[in-house]
Amino acid sequence: MTEEKTLKISKIEDGIVIDHIKAGSAMEVLSVLKITSRSGFTVSMLMNVRSSNGSLKDIVKIEKKILKKKELDLISMVSPDATINIVEKFAITEKFRVSLPENVEDLIKCQNQNCITNAKEPVKSVFKREKTGSRNNYRCQYCERTMSLEEIRNSIIK
Ligand code: CTP
Ligand code: ZN
Repeated sequence: MTEEKTLKISKIEDGIVIDHIKAGSAMEVLSVLKITSRSGFTVSMLMNVRSSNGSLKDIVKIEKKILKKKELDLISMVSPDATINIVEKFAITEKFRVSLPENVEDLIKCQNQNCITNAKEPVKSVFKREKTGSRNNYRCQYCERTMSLEEIRNSIIK
């Protein structure tokens, strides 16, 4: 294909490219990373672009950004198939797929209103992953409530 057809946004020199984000979830990825226009990062975003396998995806590029473990965990919950590309001097030095964490501490609000983690003097929430077939659920370690990945996504503490 000609460059006019393929090149959408430029390559970055240093930073991270979050690729293969579920189409439509790019803004949510930025949101869990707490990146806004005031954060000072140079960010580029592609939404609903064609991936090599023919399906649609989103891409987020953040220059000079280093991701912490907690941030990787949050991205995995929003978009479990996302890949992280670490770019240094224009070259990709590391590429990996995010993976759902076994334990999620202090990032999720338990959906059970009576849970001690939602009490007036709250205890930090702790969820453990439970895999049943291809489904991933998370169980609150205090009240035993299980939450689907979809519920988990909607319960990320802002
Ligand atoms: N990228 C970038 N800046 C660089 C290098 C790569 O923005 N200096 C971006 C590319 O534009 C692409 C992503 O990082 O969106 C992954 O690049 P690459 O591994 O070269 O592409 P693919 O082989 O298509 O990736 P994959 O196999 O993971 O689909
Ligand atoms: Zn609970």
